[in-house]
Amino acid sequence: MNEPECISLNDLIDTTRALLESNRIEALTHLLNAVHIEPESLAPYRHFHDAHYTRNLVFKNDLFELLVLCWGIGHRSWIHNHRGQHCWMAVVEGTLAVQNYKRLGCDQQKRTVQLQSLPHFLISPGSAAKVDPDEPVHLVWNPPEFDRLAVSVHVYSRPFDACVVYDVESGLCRDTTLHYTSEYGQLTNRHRAGGRLADLPACTCQLSTEERDIHCGIAP
Ligand code: SIN
Repeated sequence: MNEPECISLNDLIDTTRALLESNRIEALTHLLNAVHIEPESLAPYRHFHDAHYTRNLVFKNDLFELLVLCWGIGHRSWIHNHRGQHCWMAVVEGTLAVQNYKRLGCDQQKRTVQLQSLPHFLISPGSAAKVDPDEPVHLVWNPPEFDRLAVSVHVYSRPFDACVVYDVESGLCRDTTLHYTSEYGQLTNRHRAGGRLADLPACTCQLSTEERDIHCGIAP
């Protein structure tokens, strides 16, 4: 079997731009599964925070944004959607778990929604994921079992700066604004002041290979 091609983050940005400008959505999924992104090319965007994962902006135009996300051991995202945008994730270091959810019922006025967890899957270098536009609610997590930091590259088309976050236990959902930890390699004031990306409730997550679910509840 051939070794996967290694490409730099800058080359990935150029190719992503060319593919998205010609609306070649599937080709981008294929590319991210076929290449390894050079870890050294991510160095200016590799910022970790003790309390939560970080979102580091590398490139943004009207069509897409590309971010490097850095995950401490056990860090996770909210259960969230992507406001109808396409999203690809490729891991450069470590392994991440992705838990998808099916929306069963939704009361727009009361802001309640019932979620059913679907089987989770793991992504590591060489196995990228694209968020399903029909079932876009998901959680991304660096399981403590792997005991190592993780770094991933995310492409969002088009860029978005707000999304809906969900709490399985209460069945409530709400809008939240998304923030960057760094922009083009420079830490933002928010990060320097120790600010959070969003207020994440305490979470008890377990990776259960038997049930193929990540249980994520809000701790009492
Ligand atoms: C995020 O963008 O902060 C969450 C990661 C993702 O679902 O792509």
